[in-house]
Amino acid sequence: MQQYGQQTGGHDNTLFTEQDHNILLKFQPDNSPENEAYKTFTTRANEWAPFLPKYFGTKVIENKTYLLMENLTARFSQPCVLDIKMGKKSSAPDASEQKKEIQYKKALSTTGLSHGLRIIGMKKYDHVTKNVVTYPKSFGAGLDNMDKVRLSLTHFFSAACPHTATSEQIVNETFQQSMIEADLMQAQINRNAIQSVISQLQNLRDFMCSPPKTKFNFYSSSLLITFDGAIPNSGDVSTKMIDFQHVFEQVPESVAYGEDDGYIDGLNNLISVLQEILSQEQLLKQS
Ligand SMILES: Nc1ncnc2c1ncn2[C@@H]1O[C@H](COP(=O)(O)OP(=O)(O)O)[C@@H](O)[C@H]1O
Ligand SMILES: [Mg+2]
Repeated sequence: MQQYGQQTGGHDNTLFTEQDHNILLKFQPDNSPENEAYKTFTTRANEWAPFLPKYFGTKVIENKTYLLMENLTARFSQPCVLDIKMGKKSSAPDASEQKKEIQYKKALSTTGLSHGLRIIGMKKYDHVTKNVVTYPKSFGAGLDNMDKVRLSLTHFFSAACPHTATSEQIVNETFQQSMIEADLMQAQINRNAIQSVISQLQNLRDFMCSPPKTKFNFYSSSLLITFDGAIPNSGDVSTKMIDFQHVFEQVPESVAYGEDDGYIDGLNNLISVLQEILSQEQLLKQS
């Protein structure tokens, strides 16, 4: 078993691969409800299955339980990975008061509470410069408005970008301007990937609004967007829901009973900002 090297968020030392790199093993702490959520999503509520990594049950190794799921980066030679936490409710109703406060502050100081989405972290491979850059959680924590989120997404989907950014730099206006120009004017933005993500997000949004037979509230759950940075303009992108430690079925006896529109708001805001990036590039090209 070896440590998984493409993580862009979450707890350290919890994700592993074996010989078969297509499968990811996620350590399940005691009483973790994530495995139960996956079971529900792939059996009784399997209309959700197309939106999540494939699930392969659990495995016990040296007395520790691991959940087995599809490794969403395995088929890419140089994965670009983006973790976006979705929803406006910052913490689960069963969290401790201390945890609720910490989570609330994080959501309040980023775009989580206001827009139902916040970038946790990302990893980017640039096929022109051959750079691999990992943007840690501290990067995501500094993105406190949608302009910075838009710039970060532009950066994520662009190649030949001479800059690597810290969240402090993204605050700096000169840097913002030069990044927009560098990214967009060199026309190295991966439009195919962005278009494909938009249509996958629209499918998920339409599914959630339909509404599905079995409804859930998601807390601290993410969308994971991945594509191959080694292939210029690849439209082969995966957009999947991950991280189901705090998922509650919409049934009257649930502690989290009641509608949660924050996820759908987050999807709509993400679709809008990606559409903005595409139309901004179009305008710059014409000017
Ligand atoms: N199925 C997957 N395929 C590829 N990478 C994954 C997958 N699930 C999680 N990851 C990576 O691991 C990170 C942490 O996973 P997550 O399920 O969010 O754990 P945690 O519960 O610790 O937050 C994610 O940000 C992502 O980069
Ligand atoms: Mg996570």
